Amino acid sequence: MHVGIIMDGNGRWARQRGAIRTQGHTEGLKAARRIVKAASDMGIQHLSLYVFSTENRKRAAGEVNFIMGLVKQYLRAELPFCRENNIRVRHAGDAKSLSPDIAMEIANVVEETKALSGMQVILALNYGGRDELVRAFRRLAASGKDLTAVTESDIAASLDNPDVPDPDLIIRSAGEYRTSNFLLWEGAYSELYISAKLWPDWTREDLEKAVDEYRNRDRRFGGVGDSSVHTGGIPVNGEKQ
Ligand code: FPP
Repeated sequence: MHVGIIMDGNGRWARQRGAIRTQGHTEGLKAARRIVKAASDMGIQHLSLYVFSTENRKRAAGEVNFIMGLVKQYLRAELPFCRENNIRVRHAGDAKSLSPDIAMEIANVVEETKALSGMQVILALNYGGRDELVRAFRRLAASGKDLTAVTESDIAASLDNPDVPDPDLIIRSAGEYRTSNFLLWEGAYSELYISAKLWPDWTREDLEKAVDEYRNRDRRFGGVGDSSVHTGGIPVNGEKQ
C-alpha cells in the first residue's frame, strides 16, 4: 500500500497557542517522526510526505530557512532510525533548485538507505505535481523521444520515482479539501481522506483510522461490478476506467 500525506496545519496549530509559526513546524516534524514509525509498524510499503512544495518557496525567507533547517536536522538524525527499521528514503521534487547543502544531505540519506528493503519514505521536497510533469517531459525530449507519439506509460516512466506504485490513499490534515499540486499524475485515482485535525496533533491512531476507513471503502464497494451505478462514473477502489 502507498499512502501520501499532505501535512497541513502547522501554522494554525502555533497560532492557536499564541506561538510563532516555526514552533508549529517543529511540532510538525515530531508528528512526521511518529507517523513514519507507525506506518512502518503497520506494514505500509510506501509513504509519501509533502514536506515542501514549489509554492512554499513564496513564504517569508525566515520560515523557508527554518523548514529547510528542520529537514536537514531530520535527515541527519534519522539515519540510524532508518537502518533499525529497514526504511529506504527517497526524494521527489526538483533537487536542482534546492540549496546545495540540503541537496547533498538528501543525496547522502538516499544513497545510505538505497539497499534497505522495508518501507520506502518518499520526501516530496521542493515538489510540485506540475513541475514534476514538466521535468518528465524535458527528460523525454532529452532522450530523443518523439513527443508527438508520447504515451501515458512514457510519461509515467519519466516521473521522479517511476517504480513507486501510485498512491492508494492521500491523506490531508487540517481540513482543507484540495490536493494542492501533490502527486498530480500519480494520484489520479487515489482515495482521499481529509481530517480536521492539525498535523502536529497527528498520532498513530489517526493514521490507523485513515487506513481503516480506506479499507472499509474498499470492502463496501469491492464487489460491485458496475461502479458507475453508485458513483456516477467516478472510479472507486483504484479501479481504472
Ligand atoms: C504545512 O503547514 C506544513 C509545511 C509547509 C511544512 C511541513 C514540514 C514539516 C512537517 C517538518 C519537516 C518534516 C520532515 C518529514 C522533514 P502550514 O504552515 O501550511 O500550516 P497552516 O496552513 O496552518 O499555516
